[in-house]
Amino acid sequence: MLTPAEFTLWQLVTAQFRLGRDSDHGPHHWLTVLRNGLHLARHHPADEQIVRLFALFHDSCRENESRDPEHGPRGAQLALEFRTAGHFELDDTRMDLLVTACRIHNGGPPQSDPTLAVCLDADRLDLGRVGITPDPARLSTATAQSIATRQAWHELE
Ligand SMILES: [Fe+2]
Repeated sequence: MLTPAEFTLWQLVTAQFRLGRDSDHGPHHWLTVLRNGLHLARHHPADEQIVRLFALFHDSCRENESRDPEHGPRGAQLALEFRTAGHFELDDTRMDLLVTACRIHNGGPPQSDPTLAVCLDADRLDLGRVGITPDPARLSTATAQSIATRQAWHELE
């Protein structure tokens, strides 16, 4: 799932992550978001490289496991710093989308842009890890809404 270059980048971001490898918001979750995002990107015209970078950066600067409303903007800032340092390449237009996705992912409304939609849904589909059933009304893509609806029905059975 990770290219060799991505693996190096993931190691660098993981090294600065404060909450440890077993965190609910740590590298295991990032990989699940990547897997979810790549699945959704097969059904919606999202920019796959942005989805991959979002999975890595969106929770990379969390400082606690509960309320941390500024972690999205901090993750966006880290992505900007890593691009400036040459750890990955992305043109300015696509970087703006990555920054937006990181900034709004925590509580932002459903999105119509397919890349933003897939990024946010990839994260929200993993809410079950912290005991929250994803709400289809908070999801942006028909594919994620369908998955969440099936999960909700499954829990009622
Ligand atoms: Fe997340």
